[in-house]
Amino acid sequence: MFYHFAPVQGHTDAPYRHFHAFTYGSESIYYTPFIRLEHGALRPRDLKDFTSGLNDNQKLIPQIIFRDKDELSALVRLMIENGASEIDLNMGCPFPLQTGHGRGAATVANKDLAHDVAEIIANNPGITFSVKIRLGFSDADEWKNLIPELNKVEVSHIAVHPRVAKQQYGGQLILDSFKEILDQSKNPVVFNGEIHTPQDIDKVLNDFNGINGIMIGRGLLARPSLIKEYLSGKEWDKADRVEEMLKFHRLLLDYYSDTLCGDSQIISKIKPFWEYAEEEIGRKAWKAIKKASNMAKYNSAVALI
Ligand SMILES: Cc1cc2nc3c(=O)[nH]c(=O)nc-3n(C[C@H](O)[C@H](O)[C@H](O)COP(=O)(O)O)c2cc1C
Repeated sequence: MFYHFAPVQGHTDAPYRHFHAFTYGSESIYYTPFIRLEHGALRPRDLKDFTSGLNDNQKLIPQIIFRDKDELSALVRLMIENGASEIDLNMGCPFPLQTGHGRGAATVANKDLAHDVAEIIANNPGITFSVKIRLGFSDADEWKNLIPELNKVEVSHIAVHPRVAKQQYGGQLILDSFKEILDQSKNPVVFNGEIHTPQDIDKVLNDFNGINGIMIGRGLLARPSLIKEYLSGKEWDKADRVEEMLKFHRLLLDYYSDTLCGDSQIISKIKPFWEYAEEEIGRKAWKAIKKASNMAKYNSAVALI
């Protein structure tokens, strides 16, 4: 069983991943947020995130996003040139800016592209590929084009977030479709979506016999100890969880204070740390953090936790 920390743009960048792995042990597999082409080259800040020395303490898989065969081939070549031996293919992003250009979740129903993806995977035997998908863009059956193509090749896993892109990040998970993918995929399948507690992990493992792993995004941002707790076999009480989270936060804040210039830069990088943690740290502190407009106010807000 593998545990994956889902990529989340604006949150799980190199400093966050580094201090998360440092604080909670590196049991998880980490991913870069999606890397994309800009003017025919890798976007510089994406490349910096992938090649950062801060990645040394974790297993990291870079993720790419593409709309057609040309973009995919170019990205794979550039990633290999920059040292990648594993590549995750984003076929699930629901952001309109990406789907509007045919990327992310808009690729699931693209029959020609499904064939191209399989071909490119087959033509790069030295690279371990994985794929992250949604069920489709607007129809929960769109994956039925893609999975048979992926069955022709070997990937390390297919992580499935069982929603369509139109649902964005809310609404019911479509679990029957997840089960169908699990039955039909010849490649290992990973479950991703709405896991917030150790009990949620147990339920997914229990409901979906045969999955190869669990991928958690917002649940880990809210409760960064979740996988560590689960693997230790003992749920921590809230006081312990929050104490450890504050240690993690301190390391990240010190890093940003040493490397960034000025309060507003530091605040804009550190505030997202708490975005999903309202329940964990309490509404009062959470709201005060959200409102804080300078470091003095931010530090007082954190002291309310
Ligand atoms: C703000 C935000 C940014 C995200 N960025 C990425 C990304 O770069 N690549 C990706 O594959 N998924 C991205 N995701 C999706 C997550 O990886 C994950 O699939 C989704 O949040 C569902 O899992 P969860 O319920 O455990 O959070 C993003 C999600 C959110 C909310």
